[in-house]
Amino acid sequence: MSDRSQRTATCTANSNIAFIKYWGDRDPCLRIPVNSSLSMNLEGLTTRTRVTFDPKLAGDQLTLEDQPVTGEALARVSAFLDRVRQMAGISLFAEVRSSNNFPMGAGIASSASAFAALSLAAAHAAGIALGEKDLSRLARTGSGSACRSVPAGFVEWQAGESDEDSFAFSIAPPDHWDIVDNVVIVSQAHKTIGSTEGHALALTSPLQTARVADAPRRLALCRRAICERDFEAFADMVELDSNLMHAVIMTSTPPILYWQPPTLAVIHAVQAWRRQGWPVCYTIDAGPNVHVISLSAHADRVAQELSGISGVSKVLTARPGRAARVDEDY
Ligand code: PMV
Repeated sequence: MSDRSQRTATCTANSNIAFIKYWGDRDPCLRIPVNSSLSMNLEGLTTRTRVTFDPKLAGDQLTLEDQPVTGEALARVSAFLDRVRQMAGISLFAEVRSSNNFPMGAGIASSASAFAALSLAAAHAAGIALGEKDLSRLARTGSGSACRSVPAGFVEWQAGESDEDSFAFSIAPPDHWDIVDNVVIVSQAHKTIGSTEGHALALTSPLQTARVADAPRRLALCRRAICERDFEAFADMVELDSNLMHAVIMTSTPPILYWQPPTLAVIHAVQAWRRQGWPVCYTIDAGPNVHVISLSAHADRVAQELSGISGVSKVLTARPGRAARVDEDY
């Protein structure tokens, strides 16, 4: 690409929900995690991002939901664009315009879809052709979980030990298993402590070492349950892993409690339904909202019951999602 021409690309990426969670970094700068993780892309919960490298710009610009953004968020995007500029051998600044179709900062991984879409759009606009693995590595440096929104369907992020071997890959395509994530929104507020800060606190909990030591076992069982479509085994691992992460979060210094009263009400409801034999389980990211996973045949009933719980403002449903993609028609 010539440094005098304007180049643009628009890309879309789905958010993802982790069944085996990433919490804590071995290398916080490169976002190399302490444990491997496993997730599902969420079809329809998306970020769409347009990147334009423009010789007329005197600095990077960021617009989120049509609002100009400066400060820390712009600095994070700028630092990420520096990587892309270095890879492409260009020095042009970029205009980044991004919008989500779900609330940001409340336990739906907006940074995952945001940095997956940004990676693809920035690489495409800069004229560098990256394969899925390298795109996943690049997305990881923006936000760890973003590397899992690059490949399709059910995705494993191999922790690795360095920038080269820490990336995500698909273990099964979206149509492998007909399950649904019922995303239960109990708060749309921005969380007080973001995940970057949370990762840095993980080791202050005496429980983190035990959580990490047992992570390969949980991941292997969860992977097998997904491959064999064994909901019972899957549900056991997903709930255990989420509880372990929140136990670490609650016992860090300072302690963090992401849950709100309706979060707990949903957990109790899901436990009761499971005792009655419904194929449902819960998992919670770094926020108060609850992801209730169910077999698709039960999803309508589950969503309806969830909507009736006091404090629940909305239930979004998402099936296993596609890979990050370039929007040709934009
Ligand atoms: O990618 P980050 O830094 O936003 O961390 C994500 C952390 C969790 O969402 C809580 C767990 C995960 O694996 O997605």
